[in-house]
Amino acid sequence: MDGNGRWAKKRGLPRVAGHREGAEAVRRTLKAAVVAGVECLTLYAFSSENWRRSEEEVTDLKGLMRFYLERELDELAREGVKLRFIGEPSAFGPELWERLQLAAAKTADNDKLTLNVALNYGSQQEIARAAQILAQEAVDGVIDSAAIDVAAVEKVLQTAELPPLDLLVRTSGEMRLSNFLLWQAAYAELVFLDLLWPDFDADAFNGALDQFAGRQRRFGGR
Ligand code: IPE
Ligand code: MG
Repeated sequence: MDGNGRWAKKRGLPRVAGHREGAEAVRRTLKAAVVAGVECLTLYAFSSENWRRSEEEVTDLKGLMRFYLERELDELAREGVKLRFIGEPSAFGPELWERLQLAAAKTADNDKLTLNVALNYGSQQEIARAAQILAQEAVDGVIDSAAIDVAAVEKVLQTAELPPLDLLVRTSGEMRLSNFLLWQAAYAELVFLDLLWPDFDADAFNGALDQFAGRQRRFGGR
């Protein structure tokens, strides 16, 4: 979800205005995803590297997360959305972390769409953590290190319970993954859009789905 800052700058507004509008784009996208029958939607809301931003911007982003969580939770729950998180959201402090956990618990039995929010997430950190877990299991004699294979790694990634990643969309014209779902994207279809995230809407979402539908997926076969 890239381009909030540039969207605001173009209008002579503070960056936080772009983030606010970006949150509206999240609402639209979620609705479009439910209508399209998408099983799981992961949103990259805050990366492990976003701590490099100013204290003011980080505070604004945390405030917005809290505000939208409060405002949207009942509706998400009603719509059958199951909310979960990847990353290390506890770093946002006990108050927000508590609210996030309560929101996940409240929606845990929903099964229409899984909304997976990446908060303080970095894919390299996730993979390093997976290596740690497996190394410890090998040291403890729970597993044989020689038996560590792709499936064993997948089981200890934070996405273990999610379906395979099919489509990855990045907005704002940047053509990089920026430490997002690197392992999981091995055979994902990539779509890069010139649109800034606050301008993203149902049409853009469905356009990305159309691009996906037009791709031939061979998974290394022929
Ligand atoms: C939003 O876009 C992504 C978040 C970290 C919330 P940016 O804040 O990266 O916007 P640009 O790239 O400066 O335009
Ligand atoms: Mg950016």
